[in-house]
Amino acid sequence: FANTALAGKRVVITAGPTREALDPVRYLSNHSSGKMGYALARAAVEAGARTTLVSGPVGLATPEHVERVDVISARDMLAACQERSASCDIFIACAAVADYRPAEIQDQKIKKGGEHSSLALVRNPDIVAAVAAGSPRPFTVGFAAETRDVLNYARDKLARKNLDMIVANDVAAEGLGFASDENEVTVIWREGEQALARAGKQTLARQIIQLIATHAGQPQ
Ligand code: C5P
Repeated sequence: FANTALAGKRVVITAGPTREALDPVRYLSNHSSGKMGYALARAAVEAGARTTLVSGPVGLATPEHVERVDVISARDMLAACQERSASCDIFIACAAVADYRPAEIQDQKIKKGGEHSSLALVRNPDIVAAVAAGSPRPFTVGFAAETRDVLNYARDKLARKNLDMIVANDVAAEGLGFASDENEVTVIWREGEQALARAGKQTLARQIIQLIATHAGQPQ
């Protein structure tokens, strides 16, 4: 291992998008590439953690020494996380979970009709909030991708979802976030925050994992 910051710890990381089926051939999803979550998994392994990726559909190779659990929908992801969250030390929610899913999944392909159509949607479960509400609960870390007022929304999410730490990033900034290889984030916890300068996702992932290791080691 490159370092021992998380030696002996179990880490579960969600990554990628979720896909919410509409019918046998269609789904709702988003542009998450999974790169940040996979970079975090690599950094956690480097730090000596036993690492599991709960991954939505992405086109990335499984990092070495990482256990990978593939899921499709938000509800699948929730089930996979709930099975594992009570027995892990650190939970990092990096996935771009679809906020809503179609109210019904049609058995047959939906046929086109008139000029207008509409779709009934229902809210998906909030996975990281569910994990943070558990008992026992792991040190729980969320991400906040925002297009404005980034730090305020992130602090609000930290409190509302009862997280221990949140990683805020401005997805409106040119060349950063989602499909990009670079990012620039501010890591916020209850009593402090640290800005991490623009860098490759693997470099940032290592810095985020070191901050998590420092704070997860302290009494909550
Ligand atoms: O509320 P918002 O979606 O912006 O919160 C983002 C954070 O919450 C991320 O850590 C994301 O992985 C997590 N999340 C989740 N389940 C959802 C929605 C978001 O775990 N249904």
